[in-house]
Amino acid sequence: MSTKNAITGIVGQGAIGLLAASQLALRQQPFHLLLRQHQHHSLVLNFRTRQQDYPLLLNCQRPQLPITLLLLPVKAFSVQSALAQWLPLCAPDADIVLCHNGMGTLELAKQQLQPGQKLWFASTTHGALKSGPHQLEHTGIGRTVLGPVNDIAKDAVAPFALLNEALGPLEVVSDILPVLWQKLAINAVINPLTALLMVKNGTLTEPQYRAHIEQLVTEFCQVAWTQGQRFDAPSLAQTVLSVAANTAGNYSSMQQDRALQRPDELEFISGFLLAAAAKAGIGIPAHQQLYQQLRAVKPA
Ligand SMILES: NC(=O)c1ccc[n+]([C@@H]2O[C@H](COP(=O)([O-])OP(=O)(O)OC[C@H]3O[C@@H](n4cnc5c(N)ncnc54)[C@H](OP(=O)(O)O)[C@@H]3O)[C@@H](O)[C@H]2O)c1
Repeated sequence: MSTKNAITGIVGQGAIGLLAASQLALRQQPFHLLLRQHQHHSLVLNFRTRQQDYPLLLNCQRPQLPITLLLLPVKAFSVQSALAQWLPLCAPDADIVLCHNGMGTLELAKQQLQPGQKLWFASTTHGALKSGPHQLEHTGIGRTVLGPVNDIAKDAVAPFALLNEALGPLEVVSDILPVLWQKLAINAVINPLTALLMVKNGTLTEPQYRAHIEQLVTEFCQVAWTQGQRFDAPSLAQTVLSVAANTAGNYSSMQQDRALQRPDELEFISGFLLAAAAKAGIGIPAHQQLYQQLRAVKPA
């Protein structure tokens, strides 16, 4: 597909979707924001990044031509339904890019695609927060790692240029699984703990949480090893604590979802880990307890 015919679709008006759209708009790159309700031709947004405000008009018109690059920055539990809704607008050889926290969506997603469509995963450390219906804050300047998921993507050229503009700096890797498992380690500690305690990430660096975090990381490593993912528990615990320290002033997404009584990604983070542990015949009591405590207080 030549760049001339490239049609980019970004699903939803969530924090990461609007971040990608805003960065493209700032660089005069065309895209279509694909909203559930197709009422408006454009969305007015104030984008705040690096202490600067940018008033933007984001294009929400449905594309007239097939989408060649579809970015799905939706919560893990929305991936299946979002694919079902938007894949019919995509070209038979389109690049489809998932971007979410948690694991457990890839096998179903592969089955939903047409044989020529390439499935990718983008794991990002950017932070974004919708502080109002027309206000997006770029709360953390990060980077993104992109890797192929299905076989056809493994033999294809990565959709580097546009994703680099949207969520860069972009690194392309041939095997995305180690990246996803490392992100899962961080999410499986920081998200449930901050959601249970209702605290900011930085609280977890206090000494009283150290032993609990180390146990969670050790259990995580045992499960990861059964999946061929080898991590050194002490250095992984250090990584988790560094992320908590570097994002000390932020609330995790699970904490925010719970505070606002929105559905969260517990099933795709702790739930995924527990399922993998059960399959491997391993007990992970610290994760089990955390999961049960959160399930017990989960809004109906
Ligand atoms: N925000 C961050 O800083 C950050 C950083 C790293 C990773 N992540 C991860 O990235 C993912 C996205 O995060 P987010 O913060 O952007 O989530 P979010 O704010 O919940 O955004 C997701 C958006 O997608 C929309 N959506 C879902 N299904 C749709 C469909 N079929 N058609 C159109 N729109 C649809 C949702 O609309 P409804 O509300 O109507 O369902 C929502 O507006 C999550 O897995 C999150 O954990 C986020």
